[in-house]
Amino acid sequence: MFKIHTHKSFDVTNKVVVSFAHTDRKLSAQGALVEKELDQNLTSALSYGRFTGALGQTRFVDSHTENGPAGVLVVGAGASEKLDENALRKMGIAAGKALWSLGVSEAVFMSEGLGPILEVTATTAFVEGVALGMYDFYEHRTNLKEHEKQVFTQLHVVSENATELAPQLTGAEALFEGVELARGLVNHPANVATPLYVVEQAKELKKLGIKVEVFGPKELKKLGCEMMYSVGAGSEEGAHMVVMRWQGGKKNDAVKALVGKGVTFDTGGYSLKLQLMEHMKSDMAGAAAVLGAIKAIALRKSAVNVVGVVGLAENMVSARATRPSDVVKSYKGLTVEVNNTDAEGRLVLGDALSYIIDKENPEEVVDIATLTGAISIALGNRYAGLFSNNDALAEKLRSAGEGVGEDLWRMPTDPSYHAQLKSSTADISNIGGRTAGSCTAAAFLEKFVGDTPWAHLDIAGVAMAGKVFGAANNNNTKGANGFGVRLFVRYLEGLNK
Ligand code: BES
Ligand code: ZN
Ligand code: MN
Repeated sequence: MFKIHTHKSFDVTNKVVVSFAHTDRKLSAQGALVEKELDQNLTSALSYGRFTGALGQTRFVDSHTENGPAGVLVVGAGASEKLDENALRKMGIAAGKALWSLGVSEAVFMSEGLGPILEVTATTAFVEGVALGMYDFYEHRTNLKEHEKQVFTQLHVVSENATELAPQLTGAEALFEGVELARGLVNHPANVATPLYVVEQAKELKKLGIKVEVFGPKELKKLGCEMMYSVGAGSEEGAHMVVMRWQGGKKNDAVKALVGKGVTFDTGGYSLKLQLMEHMKSDMAGAAAVLGAIKAIALRKSAVNVVGVVGLAENMVSARATRPSDVVKSYKGLTVEVNNTDAEGRLVLGDALSYIIDKENPEEVVDIATLTGAISIALGNRYAGLFSNNDALAEKLRSAGEGVGEDLWRMPTDPSYHAQLKSSTADISNIGGRTAGSCTAAAFLEKFVGDTPWAHLDIAGVAMAGKVFGAANNNNTKGANGFGVRLFVRYLEGLNK
């Protein structure tokens, strides 16, 4: 993550300065300021070429210095002068990508002229976009030349209101530490990001004042989390559960719980996957989002009490792996017939949910998981699925997601989906019939939450950008999106009510 510096005034000679233009190549008020400051006629430079100022277009107006790129990066702001957070974030993403291509180590953003009330929110959203678009992951490439690596280190934000902007932008930096943790965890291949690797990453968070508790396979079995245990039974490391507590609020304030699916690789188990197996290193994106959110909350020293739980397991085949039709007992006491070992996420989450509800009695619990392929058939990569037993909680999450550009679409919960989960051998089966796969998965989870206000985010369609999955919400990022981190931080801090 690059550093953000705020300045009241700043020498922009030989720098790349970011500026906005609206459709028909009309410079924004902020663009006019840049033009004046640089004494460079941007309007005439923009009068030719294909750049129109459409939202997210970019055009670099080079000022031909000998010391590397300098000039103005003009970002299209679309037709409307009224820019909302989502528009600015999209512009930021475009700017981030363009700055990455230019290969510069710093850039300047003059945020005045955006309007006094808008400036803080707008600049934060824009900078967030720059970080999203700029992100790169090449830890496993040894053949990159220096100039192909990430070189961007400083973003200078210049404004008369620097004093008000500074704390917000420090907060944005902290948020991005969390997002980048999540993206990195998902992008690492599954032979690196194993359950124990994720456990180590969670332990690192102790340095930030987070309390971290780890349960290995033996402890899980003793606790009664046999469902979770069974998913890791065929793997070398076995299943692990990590509980992370951040107490930024008062001791007796209510706790909110986040629960993430951390299947570090999903072969399907004996119900072996015939499709998309090579994408299944991303099956721990839910757990990654929980770790990222907890990290960001701690770095931001947010005044909230939150507990994050991740259920980690590698779904493999071996002599000790679960067989289709095995019966396991859940922490809650319900017995489950595992009729399909590829429906493993719900087994991990079911135990994590009932454990944390039992231990912590949270006022709200939200789980996040790449749970079903069916959700991307239903919603594509435009929305994550939102299931809930509580309208107020569902609305808080939907609205938080809308604010950060991680959009959720409410899906139904209904007794008919529960009816699909009948088993004649055990209390319930882990799969339903052929229809409504995302809804029966959610119904399975619902059996483990009782009356606690609960929501479930199915992020299987939005966790990754790429050929198969497309870009989440057209954010146009690469690899893992870190979906959920920004949404959770906003939900926990209660910014969107
Ligand atoms: N991890 C998968 C869901 C998934 C599929 C995520 C594609 C991302 C892309 C999950 O564990 C799974 O296998 N679900 C099954 C459920 C079925 C066996 C009831 C599915 O979606 O097919
Ligand atoms: Zn899975
Ligand atoms: Mn699976």
